[in-house]
Amino acid sequence: MSTETVTSGEVPEGRSARSVLKWVLLIALVTFFAGLLFGYDQGVIAGALAGIGQDFKVGNFAKEVITSWVTLGALFSALVAGTLADRFGRKPILLSAGVLFIGGAVIQGVAPDVPVLTAGRVITGFGIGFASTIAPLYAAEMAPSKIRGRMVSTYQLAITVGIFFAYLVSDLLEPGRWREMFLVAIIPGTLLIIGVLIVPESARWLAKMGKEKKAEESLAKVTPADEVQPHLSDMEHELAHEKAEGEATWGDVFSPGIRKALIVGVGLSIFQQITGINAIIYYANTIFESAGLTSTGAQTTATLYCVGLTNVLATFIAVAYVDRFGRKPLLFLGLTGMFVALCAVGLGFAIESTKDTGAGASVVGIITMAALVVFIASFAFSLGPIVWTIISEIYPNRVRGRAVSLATAANWGAAFLVTQFFLTVVDGIGEAATFFILAAMCVLAYAFIWRYVPETKGRSLEEIQAQWAKGGSTKDWEEDSA
Ligand code: BGC
Repeated sequence: MSTETVTSGEVPEGRSARSVLKWVLLIALVTFFAGLLFGYDQGVIAGALAGIGQDFKVGNFAKEVITSWVTLGALFSALVAGTLADRFGRKPILLSAGVLFIGGAVIQGVAPDVPVLTAGRVITGFGIGFASTIAPLYAAEMAPSKIRGRMVSTYQLAITVGIFFAYLVSDLLEPGRWREMFLVAIIPGTLLIIGVLIVPESARWLAKMGKEKKAEESLAKVTPADEVQPHLSDMEHELAHEKAEGEATWGDVFSPGIRKALIVGVGLSIFQQITGINAIIYYANTIFESAGLTSTGAQTTATLYCVGLTNVLATFIAVAYVDRFGRKPLLFLGLTGMFVALCAVGLGFAIESTKDTGAGASVVGIITMAALVVFIASFAFSLGPIVWTIISEIYPNRVRGRAVSLATAANWGAAFLVTQFFLTVVDGIGEAATFFILAAMCVLAYAFIWRYVPETKGRSLEEIQAQWAKGGSTKDWEEDSA
């Protein structure tokens, strides 16, 4: 990497390649901590629940509330996050996320009873809603377009590391030490706050607020000197256009010009969830138990490695290839893997239910384990990272905050429904039918992406916006980039 300073008459301080790299890495790190906390708080409940059940002597309903209300908190804060981030900037919202994560962790860690614990869960959920809306959006706004997919995938990588880390902590501590499991989140929460205080505010947001000098300074940190001016003029051009249209409202988010992008974002978010990922993240132990792994130790180990570690490792595939192969090919490949895996799990359970004894259980156990590895891996290099990438890049600057909020809230709403009702549906219609339904959702997701989702690889956010403005079908996007 050259450390030579590149100078440009226009740019106040010439930035060396090394300085650009430093800032890009710092921004990636902030995005990473936001994702890590999101994942940790999602994953930790799987291990903490048993101890909570013993200490507070609660039944299944209270356990379900403690598990799923975090997603309700996330849903509501995701809805307001975009408006707040449009008004106050991206950094204050990320800072608030850090504070909420720490506050939520402390409340959960010291909770004397279930209501206080649940309040702590909801507060953590608020933090997750803020982080999950604003961290990928901030990363997308700050990333050079050549590595934007990779940068947002880093966020997903962090979510998976957070989930793995939570499974690991739960595995290392006995269930009775659930308070410590929650308190551990204070460490990444503090690191997130420190990181946010250091990184620059989003250049696009600053430009939008008319703070041109600051926008230029921010952009110059993450852009080679000779690209700052072209970028700025692109942004200014777009902003002038936006100004002419006036301040965005919620009505604009639903206006015909934005509607197509909105359908893409909200649809992808819902499909990311209704194809079953969180049923598996939260209830992996239970699924392994029904598939014949009787000891709790065997279940936790299977969950830790088959789900947790596979999830982390396969996300690297997306980080490496999302900007090279593009979004859609990875989505198609991933959905195919998920479909096959879900059918295999369904079939395994169907075979098991035809036997009177537990004789088939171990075969089913092995099929289930292998299929869940394939499922998680396929999700991790496709729907997991790419959905967050696409929803952070397809909206015009003017409505981006609100539109990303809406897509994120849809994600959490769908996650809530799946996690709240998965076990009930299994009780009602059995495992086999439940997994076949999830497999059918993969087919619908495939068709949806085929029909509605455009390829955004390698385009700047401004080019993406221009392409929407041109109208036409998703095919035109491919032809235009060829
Ligand atoms: C999803 C989460 C999920 C995680 C699993 C994310 O992209 O939004 O709901 O738990 O992936 O890795």
